[in-house]
Amino acid sequence: MQTQSAHSNSLPPSALIFDSGVGAISIAREIRHLLPGLTLHFGIDNGFYPYGTKSEAELRPRIVEQASAMMARSQADILVVGCNTASTLALPQLRETLDQPVVGVVPAVKPAAAATRTRTIALIATEGTVNRNYTRDLIEQFANGNRVINVPAPELVHLAEAKLRGETVTEADLEPVLHRIFHTAGGDRVDIAVLACTHFPLLRDELDRYAPRSIQWLDSGAAIARRVQWWLGELNLDLPASPGQSLLLTSTADSDGRIAGAFAEFAPRIESLAS
Ligand code: DGL
Repeated sequence: MQTQSAHSNSLPPSALIFDSGVGAISIAREIRHLLPGLTLHFGIDNGFYPYGTKSEAELRPRIVEQASAMMARSQADILVVGCNTASTLALPQLRETLDQPVVGVVPAVKPAAAATRTRTIALIATEGTVNRNYTRDLIEQFANGNRVINVPAPELVHLAEAKLRGETVTEADLEPVLHRIFHTAGGDRVDIAVLACTHFPLLRDELDRYAPRSIQWLDSGAAIARRVQWWLGELNLDLPASPGQSLLLTSTADSDGRIAGAFAEFAPRIESLAS
């Protein structure tokens, strides 16, 4: 990987956030908060949504192919893999393939291990992320002997998408996941839940409201934003006061306007890369 930016002077510094869907928004909000002048582009592989239930064999080449095409189209300076399911699977291949820096999302096991007082953490993620060797290794290395309860929660991905379409997420919708966190062996001792899917911070308020007791819901968004800031320094890229036009690239045409609505806060120009 080159450390010199391939940045063109005519374009403002930018990052492309890649995900299967609206999870990119939870990362984008953190980056926008820390780096308001950075232009944010989105690479949304909606044609292969959801990622979390798909096999590693079909996902890995797909992620590399789509993210590479979207980086080429957007000419972004940095790729942010705003998806735990993709990061825990394809970071080495993406770094081999791309010239630009690649920032991945790592489940916040290390900060959770440092902060738990009950020595019991819940790790909530897609089935893919929960079952990955990457996640197992992360727990082995960084959980510091604390108990980690793995909670696969694929339905939260769909609920986050529904919320961003304007639907209400109810207590009944969340009950099965809350049951898996709090009413499993050791669940009565959980004091921190790691939101290890970028869709889940979008449901933090609802999770907090309907949980049987107050716990900390921890995600990696702010850490990702700091990592992007670090790379901007490495690449010698100074940010203007305000960002340029965001581009929202999809792998399938957004025929019903769902994605357009969800990403409206970034006022992006939408373009489908579907052939
Ligand atoms: N947002 C993705 C993640 O962080 C996954 C959503 C999906 O299953 O497509 O894992």
